[in-house]
Amino acid sequence: MIKDVQQEILKLKKEKDMCILAHCYQSPEILEIADFTGDSFALSVEASKVENKTVIMCGVRFMAETVKILSPDKKVILSNPVAGCPMAEMMDREVISLVKEQYPDYTVVAYINTTSELKTVCDVCVTSSSALKICRKIENDNILFIPDCNLGDWVSKRLPEKNFKLLNGGCPTHARMSENDVIKAKEAHPNTLFLVHPECTPDVVKHADFVGSTTGIMDFAKKSDAEEFIIGTENSIVTHLQLSCPDKLFYPLSKDCICHNMKATTLVDVLNCCKGVFGEEIVLDDDIYSGAKKCIDEMIRLG
Ligand code: 13P
Ligand code: SF4
Repeated sequence: MIKDVQQEILKLKKEKDMCILAHCYQSPEILEIADFTGDSFALSVEASKVENKTVIMCGVRFMAETVKILSPDKKVILSNPVAGCPMAEMMDREVISLVKEQYPDYTVVAYINTTSELKTVCDVCVTSSSALKICRKIENDNILFIPDCNLGDWVSKRLPEKNFKLLNGGCPTHARMSENDVIKAKEAHPNTLFLVHPECTPDVVKHADFVGSTTGIMDFAKKSDAEEFIIGTENSIVTHLQLSCPDKLFYPLSKDCICHNMKATTLVDVLNCCKGVFGEEIVLDDDIYSGAKKCIDEMIRLG
């Protein structure tokens, strides 16, 4: 049954000249039919290089918006219109404009997990893998880092020479994991390395053997000589690692680290997007497109 749906998707996407992108938090049956898998910015870059006229983004809304900004002439479809990222949507342009008035001398750094609208009032974007490098390169020593205070905290501790202002935002999925989860997981699996995403709280991150983006965590685990790992990020990564490294063992830090928004897209949703009866085409106003693009272009220049 799953194989039949996958075959139909593969046939339709070829006939209709479509490219399918899947963030690595998607389920395995979606990752199997994708043209590209990875983190959100890497997917947007891949999409900008392909000839296909239509791109289906299996992920959340801000990811589809980033694809559209990098490929304005392509038709970009968000695989399920209800899939939003609570962190990306927790701060809006009006609030940040007011905060900026209080910190006029600060460079505003936006995690890529923000809406395009919010990016229009920011100076530069970062991904979880480029945040440290880009913040280091910014000439201004005053940085207002939004929206994720956990990623911001992790970066600021590595750049003590800079003056960071953090706001109280973050990813509810990663924030769900606690120091107690780390203690319990390490007790249950003592001979493990603990790999963690910087969206987790500082109390969790301080126990890590490695801190990195989802791609960073997967690369580290694949190359490592260690045989057992506790994974402190969305639990799909545990499954993917277990499939790609069958000789190693991977344990989730918590059974609750599941992003329901990333899991909103089903294989049938993807099929219906290919048929043209589901999904939402991303359309951005000119001012939002150009304001958000400036922020992403600056990230590309510095990164
Ligand atoms: P990365 O894939 O960039 O590590 O981000 C994780 C995440 O939470 C995506 O929504
Ligand atoms: Fe947003 Fe967190 Fe889900 Fe990523 S894991 S989409 S940051 S809520």
